Amino acid sequence: MAGPLPVGDPAPEDGHLPASALASTSPLSAYIHVPYCRVRCGYCDFNTYTASELGDARRDDYASQVAREIEFAARVLGPSVRPFDTVFLGGGTPTLLPAADLVTMLDALRTRFGIADGAEVTVEANPDSVDAEYLHALKAGGFTRVSFGVQSAVPHVLATLDRTHDPERVPEVVASAKEAGLDTSIDLIYGTPGESLDDWRQSLDFALALDTGHISAYALIVEEGTALERRIRRGEIEPTDDDLMADMYELAESKLSEAGFRWYEVSNWARSPREQSRHNVAYWVNNDWWGFGPGAHSHVGGVRWWNVKHPHAYAQRVNSGVSPAAGRETPDAQARDLEEVLLRMRLASGLPINAVDAVRRADAQALVGEGLIDDIAYEAGNLVLTFRGRLLADYVVRRLTD
Ligand SMILES: C[S@@+](CC[C@H](N)C(=O)[O-])C[C@H]1O[C@@H](n2cnc3c(N)ncnc32)[C@H](O)[C@@H]1O
Ligand code: SF4
Repeated sequence: MAGPLPVGDPAPEDGHLPASALASTSPLSAYIHVPYCRVRCGYCDFNTYTASELGDARRDDYASQVAREIEFAARVLGPSVRPFDTVFLGGGTPTLLPAADLVTMLDALRTRFGIADGAEVTVEANPDSVDAEYLHALKAGGFTRVSFGVQSAVPHVLATLDRTHDPERVPEVVASAKEAGLDTSIDLIYGTPGESLDDWRQSLDFALALDTGHISAYALIVEEGTALERRIRRGEIEPTDDDLMADMYELAESKLSEAGFRWYEVSNWARSPREQSRHNVAYWVNNDWWGFGPGAHSHVGGVRWWNVKHPHAYAQRVNSGVSPAAGRETPDAQARDLEEVLLRMRLASGLPINAVDAVRRADAQALVGEGLIDDIAYEAGNLVLTFRGRLLADYVVRRLTD
């Protein structure tokens, strides 16, 4: 299972929030976690469960459990309830549930909170768990966007990742999503053991031919405790070296920008500002969001909390009317500043220089000299990574925060 939850402070059973948090007027987002997968991919450490791992937790009752947490959230927020600007159903594999269940959860958000006009409402989908009828049902129910987990177009790479979908089906389901009137996005992973630069080029060409408005390309993280990590430890497969990883990122940037995409976060590209993921941007600029479901994290007005991880424990809590939160914390100003640097430095919109103190400004100036922070943006008062800076984003952030 995924790594442990943070420790934090105990969370009150009635979920009450301090008046200062309730006074927040930040835009509000909703994340709904759907913790089910047909099989577990060897690289994944998300909080998700296959049928045999679920015990007596019931999948067919999941939409009504989440609806109970939505009711609970509306009671906790009281007069601070406001319509959601963005909604994201992620997983796990939300599309393992019937489309009607996903629509039921969205309806509950709409009834108790409201969904803002023009809101972005995304669902993650595995290409092999949806068809045209399913996608039309999502559109009719109010979803606006689908994010497909494609990862690669190359069979041996998909096999190493334990992906079960047939890449040949992907163009058909993406076309069906567009036909249904949904915006579309693709997730790719690069740096899988055994993947060559040519394999990666093939996946990028495949993704571009799908003609979606948004593409995420993530460097494979070998997570502790995953099957992938064990295979590497046993010497069955070799991790990809950093130079090849950098070449792969460079190839992604050049092919995507040639095709008219612009980066707006280190791992995310969109064809136009409208097609950026507003939901992810809401996390990165630290707006308020309520995360529903097992293991989901929330942030409202400076208070953060996280739900119990197992679907069975979650069901018990929400069914008996108590908060499913396992712990909470209120980060102090120093922790908040650190996080702001960490998140904003990954964005093309950057970090305002006046958000950092004099010592960090001197570090930033040195990083401009090293070609890692853009000199023109710097003159205009903003810290933005150069292309080389994006390759070394973690190093830049460390330099600005140590
Ligand atoms: C948790 S998955 C949920 C979506 C859906 N279940 C799927 O796999 O298509 C969201 C995305 O995270 C990315 N991801 C998951 N584990 C990763 C890892 N270890 N390294 C890099 N990216 C990862 C994948 O691109 C995946 O599409
Ligand atoms: S389908 Fe997605 S969430 Fe499920 S195990 Fe694979 S990567 Fe993780």
